[in-house]
Amino acid sequence: MHKEAIIEVRELGKSFGRLQALKDLSFCIEKGEIFGLVGPNGAGKSTFISILTTLSKPTSGDIYISGYSAAKQPDRIKKLIGYVPQDIALYPTLSGLDNLRFWAGIYGLGGKLKTQRIEEALDIVRLGDRAKDKVENYSGGMKRRLNIAVAILHHPEILVMDEPTVGVDIQSRKYILEAVKNFKSNGKTVVFTSHYTDEMEALCDRLAIIDKGVIKSIGTVNELKSMYGKEKIEDIMLSIMEA
Ligand SMILES: Nc1ncnc2c1ncn2[C@@H]1O[C@H](COP(=O)(O)OP(=O)(O)O)[C@@H](O)[C@H]1O
Ligand SMILES: [Mg+2]
Repeated sequence: MHKEAIIEVRELGKSFGRLQALKDLSFCIEKGEIFGLVGPNGAGKSTFISILTTLSKPTSGDIYISGYSAAKQPDRIKKLIGYVPQDIALYPTLSGLDNLRFWAGIYGLGGKLKTQRIEEALDIVRLGDRAKDKVENYSGGMKRRLNIAVAILHHPEILVMDEPTVGVDIQSRKYILEAVKNFKSNGKTVVFTSHYTDEMEALCDRLAIIDKGVIKSIGTVNELKSMYGKEKIEDIMLSIMEA
């Protein structure tokens, strides 16, 4: 099958003062794949995600998405990406549905299309039956799922999530992972970070293992396992961190 890079990371570096959070990263993410960035706390995952989503600028190098520069063309990138941060401005006293109506308005959706997109998003994250409840009565996992619904309203090509399953209940975790698969089944690309190696192993087409701002290894789960001669991604990560 022909593979097409939708995201190209070229010699990307990011420093905070003397700390090099990302050191000269170069790799591609293919259209239609679920790509996972896995690594311990402080590895540089969120720094990478913030540059990918144009919320921060690289110190050197750049990321190209469908040929557009993240550093120089953030407005083009924002249309292509649906970003699920840990927290977004959800209005707690409004219902989930009204929050989605608000965000749909920001995306410029109106009329029938707006209603359709909201229904579709609620369905994907399985919040349809709770849509009319106030967000302040939602669990953490339900709020995270509402964030995902907001992120997919404008039908982005790429869904980007930073640790989407941290601190959520098991049912929400299941629904979030299903939403990721659903998104991929429509030919879209998913990029997400996690330090839960088991869920990455189960879900990702390819994984990059990052530690101290460096990509230590990249490949399919099976490629990584045979490269390191280990049965579990967790063991690979541990051996990399201890090296
Ligand atoms: N705004 C910032 N200012 C200074 N240092 C930062 C900033 N953001 C992240 N860092 C540092 O960069 C490194 C990578 O952080 P981060 O990308 O958040 O890691 P991860 O998401 O993998 O846990 C850490 O050492 C962190 O302390
Ligand atoms: Mg992080």
